[in-house]
Amino acid sequence: MKKILFVGAEAMPFAATGGLGDVLGSLPAALSKEGADVRVILPLYGQVKEEWRAKMKTEAVFTVRLAWRELYCGIKSLKKDGVIYYFVDNEYYFKRDTLYGSFDDGERFAYFSMAVMEAIEKLDFYPDVLHAHDWQAALSVVYLKCLYQSKAGYGDIRSVFTIHNIEYQGQYNFGILGDVFGLDVAQYELMDFGGCINLMKAAIVAADTVSTVSPRYAEEICTPAYGKGLDGILRENRYKLCGILNGIDYRYYNPAKDPAIPVNYSWRAREKKPENKLALQSALDLPMRRDVPLLAVITRLVAHKGVDIMTEILSKLTGESDIQLVVLGCGDERFEHYFTELARCFPDKVRVLLKYDRDLAKQIYAACDIFLMPSKSEPCGLAQMIASRYGAIPVVRETGGLYDSIKGYWEEGKRIHGNGFTFAGYSGAELYERTHAAIALWRNEAKRDRLMSKIMRTNFSWAAAARDYLAMYDQFNA
Ligand code: GLC
Repeated sequence: MKKILFVGAEAMPFAATGGLGDVLGSLPAALSKEGADVRVILPLYGQVKEEWRAKMKTEAVFTVRLAWRELYCGIKSLKKDGVIYYFVDNEYYFKRDTLYGSFDDGERFAYFSMAVMEAIEKLDFYPDVLHAHDWQAALSVVYLKCLYQSKAGYGDIRSVFTIHNIEYQGQYNFGILGDVFGLDVAQYELMDFGGCINLMKAAIVAADTVSTVSPRYAEEICTPAYGKGLDGILRENRYKLCGILNGIDYRYYNPAKDPAIPVNYSWRAREKKPENKLALQSALDLPMRRDVPLLAVITRLVAHKGVDIMTEILSKLTGESDIQLVVLGCGDERFEHYFTELARCFPDKVRVLLKYDRDLAKQIYAACDIFLMPSKSEPCGLAQMIASRYGAIPVVRETGGLYDSIKGYWEEGKRIHGNGFTFAGYSGAELYERTHAAIALWRNEAKRDRLMSKIMRTNFSWAAAARDYLAMYDQFNA
């Protein structure tokens, strides 16, 4: 049985701030179903709830050396959906108000990565594949290759590094190479990118295989427009780069059984979906109307999610059309300010909730008719898949995983093609035009119903992706 160790900074339901947490909370179970021995290791943040802590057992306690530091490390574990989750316990590093954003994030995740290396021996779990995710886990790949591969038991471990988002690379000043990361001049070239330490770049070079979360994004990041400076490095490593489209957790995101939404429904009983709209309208004190299309945005409010082109058009669109709009998310102050103003200008039409709340997000997916996701770049994107499963029509820009999962709607006699509305150029004008097209379709009941039924049945489960990952791991045997 293939032994895989996932290394990452978040996993649902223990601690998560975004899509990475969704993936680490559901892909391992899908791999385990396909017959792999998958374990996941992540930090034991202060945010992990007591209900999970009560189920954990202590596997090992030891000291981790990081440069001149001698640091406490406890490894706790629990089993969920056939997957063992390990938690790295060190309160000094992980009992903080937020998962990231501390001045010493570099040190925290260097410690985490070193702890992972030590845990392999202490747990006596030598995986066939160390599968590290995003910059926070990048150093585990580097430590494996540079410091551990020569040690007994580590020599056969292959490594995979998955890029969930190239926007966040982990860049640091070279002054801390030895003192914080515990590396030395021998690793200078590997760690260097343009005179700075770049953890993501180092992991791309050091890993045996690099993957990202959609085939389209794998191509895009090799170009200057999307590579965020790393496109040259990625082109050099093109031979070991692949893209596998994420799925979503079909048990957690299931409108037929979801306990977080007021009224359950399925594609067969889709006529019940509007009850969720009425419930949300009532909860948010919006006019309770079935006949008004409810548009939704659920995202971090940052430019690369397409928030800037939304701000170009939403006040015009809202002013001139009979629609409602609900926005959930927080982020850059200028965008928070824009949406707060929008809600103030249109008190009967717009509600803005500047927070991150998973249950509320599900209520919005269940309530909304049209889901806007005009990202400038989108490695995979999960929201468009969740929205689809909950019967909302996605309006997306053709990029990354959005391109791979949503195809433009068109009619051919009675037949319909596609599963959403899409546009290519990154412009407010195109977003405006496609959103209007989606609204027009929604107003035609027969067409709406046909498209909804198709959208809700599109398969976004993990099964296919899990098989692709296993094939990727198998290539190491070849
Ligand atoms: C990141 C990406 C998102 C992707 C998720 C999971 O959050 O921004 O597009 O779906 O990771 O891979």
